[in-house]
Amino acid sequence: MKIAIFASGNGSNFEAIIKNTLLRDKGLSISIMVCDKPEANVIKLAEKYKISVFINQLENYPDRSSYEEAIIKLLKPYDIDYIILAGYMRVVTSTLLSEYPRRIINIHPSYLPAYSGLRAIERAFEANEEETGVTIHYIDEDVDTGPLIQQKKVPIYKNDTLPILEKRVHSVEHELYSEVLAKLLDQYNKGEQL
Ligand code: GRF
Repeated sequence: MKIAIFASGNGSNFEAIIKNTLLRDKGLSISIMVCDKPEANVIKLAEKYKISVFINQLENYPDRSSYEEAIIKLLKPYDIDYIILAGYMRVVTSTLLSEYPRRIINIHPSYLPAYSGLRAIERAFEANEEETGVTIHYIDEDVDTGPLIQQKKVPIYKNDTLPILEKRVHSVEHELYSEVLAKLLDQYNKGEQL
């Protein structure tokens, strides 16, 4: 099963997927990493792990649709099965969605529908919640609203600081993304309808 990973920042989810040997054994191949931020740390990680990178900046196109058309053109020859968003800080539009229907998956650091949008961990922490979570879902045309695939709750303890909570949420993200990808690989390898 071939995937493209889209990322904009640190790349810890990207690295967790790369480092998971079970996923590789099950036949996961990361064909390319697409990044919209030339200064992002995730690019260094791609170089470290020898994964091809496509740096594509929205600023270089007249509109979102031509920006995504360039991505579609680039991805065509790779014949990828899924686009995996891992900290990709852009809203995906119908241009890309219609090319990959139910094939674009996102991870969000909250128990959706709670705390959709930006700064989700920080907002849950500031609201003194007792728990937050991680959600993996298919993308649709709105922000953080597509069909759910898997969710996991993450506790917030009284003496937590924001960095401690962030670390806990990220480590759940890394586990959950691998779990979901392992399930998709099993389905794919059995030839089941995805
Ligand atoms: C993650 O918290 C993810 O849920 C969110 O952006 C963050 C990306 O982190 N969409 P990283 O770049 O994978 O370290």
